Amino acid sequence: MSEPPLEFFASLNFSSSNEDGETELAALAGARRIVCLTGTGTRVLDLLLSDADEVIALDANPVQNALLALKVAAIEYLDRDGYLAFLGIAPGGERLKQYAGIRDRLPAAARDYWDRNRRMIASGVWLAGKWERLLGWNGRFLAMVRGQAVAALMNAPSIDEQARIWRRSFAPGRLRGAIEAIGRDLVWRMVMREPAGAFLPGAREAGRRIEADFERASRSFLFRQSDVATLALRGRHCPDGALPVHLRAGNYDRIRAGLPRLRPLVGGLADLARLDTGACDGFSLSDFGSYCGPADYAACWQGVMAAAAPGARYCERIFMNEMDVPSARIRIDRHLSEGLTDVDKSIIYRIRAGTIDGVGR
Ligand SMILES: C[S@@+](CC[C@H](N)C(=O)[O-])C[C@H]1O[C@@H](n2cnc3c(N)ncnc32)[C@H](O)[C@@H]1O
Repeated sequence: MSEPPLEFFASLNFSSSNEDGETELAALAGARRIVCLTGTGTRVLDLLLSDADEVIALDANPVQNALLALKVAAIEYLDRDGYLAFLGIAPGGERLKQYAGIRDRLPAAARDYWDRNRRMIASGVWLAGKWERLLGWNGRFLAMVRGQAVAALMNAPSIDEQARIWRRSFAPGRLRGAIEAIGRDLVWRMVMREPAGAFLPGAREAGRRIEADFERASRSFLFRQSDVATLALRGRHCPDGALPVHLRAGNYDRIRAGLPRLRPLVGGLADLARLDTGACDGFSLSDFGSYCGPADYAACWQGVMAAAAPGARYCERIFMNEMDVPSARIRIDRHLSEGLTDVDKSIIYRIRAGTIDGVGR
């Protein structure tokens, strides 16, 4: 990436879950070596439920990989109940004691980071990211001004009833401000210092799109079954509510057994030609396009194409900064993309999935 804003790429920006790993598992099924942008680490860990021999967790921000290292070491060390308490999804008063058992398993860079940030560990890293803290405030604000409406929404007996509650209680002029706040460029630029703020379409349009996405989602799936909707509306998760795929009760031991298949790597997508990945046949790209203009977007895809085995599959998420794919080698499977967008429970993303032609490495 060209001149990344240093503060952002040296901070813990994402820590819990704001995508829907079921989508990537479906889009990349059958891939044997997957490159996955790390972010919160949730998609990476979810993808350990695939048959891939290797999942390479790539992030330009070493702090996000330090978070993943902490999660990996904690999963190795703790059972599921202990892990949920360590993260802060369940109550826990022993996190620093748990950390004492975990820290020797960490690579040196991650250990240094977490030794300096024990306060985050003490209060639970799950909600320590900048975005999670914003969503936490948003959730507390919603609870204060519309607690009953949020409860009605999260307990709706059917999708139809949920959509009615949404229209009645969250329609323009009522809770619009709280929802729109997530899309305001002022929030992105000044509060979050998010480089993606530079590529938003403007406060009104961003707010309009987020509101439309929530309205569409209210007609598509039950919010209480989506960890992303739960985080957006309640500002937190709980052990018996919706959780990302890898944290669901039946999956924890499989994830733990899959940890040796995970390989962390610090670097940018555009650097992939120089990074020692081997030929990869799956790419989980999240919404990297939110962070770049067309030239950097093309450079990132060049990196992906350089590392891609012929016929490799990719899954990209598009938030607001939609750009055309920069090469005819990148084939879009429109049917698959639309189908995945329809069932994805992360509310704000469109899915673009397909294959990459060519000789690759
Ligand atoms: C695209 S962001 C979205 C966050 C996402 N919702 C998540 O947490 O899974 C995911 C991560 O990608 C990283 N990132 C963005 N553009 C990148 C690039 N071109 N190369 C490598 N990492 C990148 C950011 O540092 C961030 O941690």
